[in-house]
Amino acid sequence: MTQDEVLCDIGFIGLGVMGKNLVLNLADNGYNIAAFDLCAEKIQAVIEQDRLENTTDNARVFGCSSYTELLSQLKAPHLIVLSVPAGAPVDQVCENLIGAGVQPDDIVIDTGNSLWVDTVAREQKYKSNFHLFSSAVSGGEVGARFGPSLMPSGSPYAWTRIKPIWEAISAKVDSTTGKPIERSKPGQIISEGEPCAAYIGPAGAGHYVKMVHNGIEYADMQIICEAYHILNAGLGLSANEIADIFAKWNDGVLDSYLMEISVEVLRHKSVDTGTTLVDLILDKAGQKGTGLWTAMSSLEVGCPAPTIAQAVYARSISSFKELRIQASTTLYGPVLAELSSEEKQEYITQLHDAIYCAKMCAYAQGFQLMKLAAKEHGWSLNFASIAKIWRAGCIIRATFLQSITQAFDRNENLDNLLLDNFFAEQLSERQLNWRKAVCGATMFGIPNGALSSALSYYDSLRSETLPANLLQGQRDFFGAHTFERIDKADGKKYHVQWSTSQRETIVIE
Ligand code: 6PG
Repeated sequence: MTQDEVLCDIGFIGLGVMGKNLVLNLADNGYNIAAFDLCAEKIQAVIEQDRLENTTDNARVFGCSSYTELLSQLKAPHLIVLSVPAGAPVDQVCENLIGAGVQPDDIVIDTGNSLWVDTVAREQKYKSNFHLFSSAVSGGEVGARFGPSLMPSGSPYAWTRIKPIWEAISAKVDSTTGKPIERSKPGQIISEGEPCAAYIGPAGAGHYVKMVHNGIEYADMQIICEAYHILNAGLGLSANEIADIFAKWNDGVLDSYLMEISVEVLRHKSVDTGTTLVDLILDKAGQKGTGLWTAMSSLEVGCPAPTIAQAVYARSISSFKELRIQASTTLYGPVLAELSSEEKQEYITQLHDAIYCAKMCAYAQGFQLMKLAAKEHGWSLNFASIAKIWRAGCIIRATFLQSITQAFDRNENLDNLLLDNFFAEQLSERQLNWRKAVCGATMFGIPNGALSSALSYYDSLRSETLPANLLQGQRDFFGAHTFERIDKADGKKYHVQWSTSQRETIVIE
């Protein structure tokens, strides 16, 4: 087969790490790709990689040197996948495709981490030119190559065409165990199992769900990092000793991709020095924005997500390295007594439970946020299905996602994950250890904002009474903002002349 003899199934624009691997994944699954990138070397690189990995007799990836050539190489109606940075580059490519003659029944899929409102606006903006469909992708470069988790949304017309392709290239889960089905070799395809690709809803819904996935990812990572910090700076354990503990934890309820890669990061030795690399990495965290967007959305929607927000703040404070160096010489922490090895062991068990409980809270925050956002934007999100497609392929994949799937299968209208019996029991069994771990970290003087904010979230959620009565009094005192009374009819508003001798409550009609 040559390029002249057959038209390609899919056009692909953007051949960076994610794009290149998605192309190879599509090719393994039997699709011919016309590939384009502004950088000619990237086109050459994907063609050469395909030549190395291609186990069939036919060429599968064809390079194109322009948008016009790309369209001319595709079956109509054209199906074009974009893997370009979020923001202006997506619009730039859309405009270039219009210039090259893209047709109204063509489908353009944005697979980047676009801000969900941009996706909604783009669908409208380009609706007379083509169908803009969005499909967030999670899983990093390995996921893109061997099976990512895909969160597609947009027009049902487009989804009908995309569905078999997305189901083919996505990660797969064993439906009985809920565990990922391994795929790690070029040419290997998995046709059994449940695909980690499910239609999420109208334009923007998929990118919103991916944004929350990343918010949870931030929280999950921060919880693990706090545990590392406490074990390292509080208990004096080395990176290797912590890796041993994490590896053991990764065999139980904390089994997750992020825990697994943390073990590898902690064990890695620098080629230059032969010493543990993590000890040489500068402690300033980067961020591309999706965690921040999740925290901002939680504030806008009015849904508490303190552990996710705390994870964003933790990255921010890490970036103030010079200020922290300065403050470390003037602001003092506690003077610690050395713990015995029995006390250390006891603390490590408590910390394990604290991680698990904080993790449950972070997921509960993310799922409640999606629920409230769905209500606000008129989406009908299927939370069991979202949990299912996060069981493999994506960065937050974990054994734990099977329990979340089951919770939403038991009750699709669950208001908060923590109210499910399984989660409520897990939390109640382990909450004492969680409290001790947070107390311990606080007494060591080690920051533990994710672990402790989650505990505070749990305690707020289970409190029938909160001090908002006093807060309402304060607001009424200085601003006549009124309050309701628990001993009077619902909905009636009251105001008091607080500073005068006149103490009667005035009813506001
Ligand atoms: C994924 C990741 C991916 C990316 C993050 C990194 O699901 O595959 O979340 O989307 O690695 O955007 O985000 P930060 O740079 O903000 O950590």
